[in-house]
Amino acid sequence: MADTLLKLDGVATAYGQSQALWDIDLEVPAGSAVALIGRNGVGKTTLLKTIIGAQRLSGGRMTFQGRDVSALGPHQRARAGIGYVPQGRHIFPHLTVRENLETGLSALAGRAGGAGAMSKSAIGAGIPDHIFDLFPKLAQIINRKGGVLSGGEQQQLAIGRALAGQPRLLLLDEPTEGIQPSVVQQIEDALRRIRAELGVTVLIVEQYLDFAWSFADSYRVMQRGRIIRAGSTREETAAEVAHLVNI
Ligand SMILES: Nc1ncnc2c1ncn2[C@@H]1O[C@H](COP(=O)(O)OP(=O)(O)O)[C@@H](O)[C@H]1O
Ligand SMILES: [Mg+2]
Repeated sequence: MADTLLKLDGVATAYGQSQALWDIDLEVPAGSAVALIGRNGVGKTTLLKTIIGAQRLSGGRMTFQGRDVSALGPHQRARAGIGYVPQGRHIFPHLTVRENLETGLSALAGRAGGAGAMSKSAIGAGIPDHIFDLFPKLAQIINRKGGVLSGGEQQQLAIGRALAGQPRLLLLDEPTEGIQPSVVQQIEDALRRIRAELGVTVLIVEQYLDFAWSFADSYRVMQRGRIIRAGSTREETAAEVAHLVNI
C-alpha cells in the first residue's frame, strides 16, 4: 500500500452562513493522480481552496504527510509542499513571465533542503531548470508581460509558478479550460512528466472526462458539496460516470 499523502476526514466549509462542503472524506496516495469531477457549482473549486487553506474548515480534519494541517494558513500549507494552479490561472498581468515564476519561490522560504538542493537556472535566479525543460516556451517569452500571453502560455506559466515552490502535491483546477486542443496535449504530456520525473502527486479538477481518464488513476464525483462516488479509472469507463457530470 502506498503512503497516504493527503487525507481529509469529514471536512466541511462554508461561505459565511452558506455551507458549501459537507463531510468530505478523501485520501490521495503518494505518487497517484486523482481526478475530481462534477457539474458546475458542486464545490470542486471550494474543495481545492479548502485544501490550500484559503477556505477555513468548519468541520473535520486534514492531514498532509501524516501531520494535522487543519489549522494552518495558506502560506504554511504552501511551505509544507502543497502547490496550486487556480481556475482561470490568475497570472499577474503586469509582471513578466520571470517575475510571475519568482512569485512561486515564496513557498520555499524556510523549507528544509528547499532552494539550496535544486538546480538553479541561468534564465531566472532561483527558478528550477526543470520548469524550462517542461515548458521551453516559457524560456522564450521570459521577459514578456503575463497579460499579453495566450491562454495556453498562461496555463504553462501557472503550472510553472506552482512548480517553482517544489510541491509534493499539485492541485490543478480545470487546466484545460479555454485552451486549444493542441496545447491541451502539451499540458497533459507535461503533467505526466511532472508525475514521473519529479514524483509529484496530482489532484486535478477536470470537466473534460477523456483527459481525466487518460491521466488519472482514480476519480471522485462531487454533487452539491459532497463526494458521491469514487472509483478507479482503470476499472470503470468514463461513459459509466458521464451521466453524473454532463448536463
Ligand atoms: N466566494 C464565494 N462566496 C459565496 N459562495 C460561493 C463563493 N464561491 C463559490 N460559492 C458557491 O459555492 C458553491 C460551489 O462553488 P464552486 O466551488 O466554485 O463550484 P465548482 O468549482 O464545482 O464549479 C456554488 O454554489 C457557488 O455559488
Ligand atoms: Mg470551479
